[in-house]
Amino acid sequence: MILAVESSCDETGVALYDGNANYLAHKLYSQVALHREFGGVVPELASRDHIRKLLPLCREVLDEQGVEFEQIRGVAYTAGPGLMGALLVAATWACGLAMGLEVPLIPVNHLEGHLMAVFLEEHRPDYPFLGLLISGGNTMLVEVIEFGKYRLLGSTLDDAVGEAFDKVAKVMGLGYPGGAQLSNLAEMAGKHSYQLPVPMLHHSGYDFSFSGLKTEAGSLIRRLQMQGSWSEEARSEVAHAFQEAAVQSIVFKVKKALCETGHRRLVVAGGVSANRRLRDELQILSQELSAELFLARPEFCTDNGAMIAVAGWEHWVRGEVITTDKILVNPRWRLGSGLTGLVARS
Ligand code: KG4
Repeated sequence: MILAVESSCDETGVALYDGNANYLAHKLYSQVALHREFGGVVPELASRDHIRKLLPLCREVLDEQGVEFEQIRGVAYTAGPGLMGALLVAATWACGLAMGLEVPLIPVNHLEGHLMAVFLEEHRPDYPFLGLLISGGNTMLVEVIEFGKYRLLGSTLDDAVGEAFDKVAKVMGLGYPGGAQLSNLAEMAGKHSYQLPVPMLHHSGYDFSFSGLKTEAGSLIRRLQMQGSWSEEARSEVAHAFQEAAVQSIVFKVKKALCETGHRRLVVAGGVSANRRLRDELQILSQELSAELFLARPEFCTDNGAMIAVAGWEHWVRGEVITTDKILVNPRWRLGSGLTGLVARS
């Protein structure tokens, strides 16, 4: 079995995983409450909190499962992309543990982890498949040819979709991160009085853009506020208009990608895949194109250690491990590219 640790942003995750026995145990600690008063993630606070939480969380998983450190055959960690300071917490910790146990160290790409989360489910895809990764930090369409072999079709030119949801939610005075609340509000809209332009419909590639939509939504909110018509109804109708435009933009690009690449398996990963409207629309699209839709359960959609464990396991069985004489992280590690970015020698 391997142990995996994740600390790339504001979630501390630990998981124990044995791919042969289909065994998984994991723990997750979210720092959302810590960052809420600042309206966004404060990198320094995130790093310090990861330091506080990583070992207790790990002990909890091991104790609950009755597993000793000596039973661990490899230590996987998120090596990027993410916040430099936050990444370093799990990286140095994993390196120290692997060194002490004399087992291999397994660096895992966070985006790869998201795409592999669906393999924790019973309903798993065969390769190849089309991957849609939609989170607070990323929005991308990627062809997954096989494990470790990725072809990026498109990504966001500016804000990630989750980031846009959160920023519009902030302007509307919802909590942080407000994506889910904005979505709940949108579902309460009785009328659909407003329409916002669907981004990137006339852009030929597979890239996304949500910054313009965010600005349009902000302008509409300010106009309604100045007119004195910023009522509860108006709030939910604006939330609906924003969500609808964002969802339609994603569905449009996914349809284009499925039609043009011929893939008939679609894997959706990342925190925004919890969005019910988007799930429904992707389900309808999949039926229309006779494609199969694969979604991880909500707890594995957001950042977690379990997804790093699954990806780490795949690397471990392939012997894709590193030695513990160096600590490697890369805050801008691109999916499918080699890991470079030597930070420290231990
Ligand atoms: O995967 P994740 O943890 O992302 C990163 O940390 O990057 O996902 C978090 C993001 C946040 O932006 C959050 O607002 C968004 O996913 N999110 C949603 C929903 N639930 C979470 N956005 C829209 N609708 C939702 N239901």
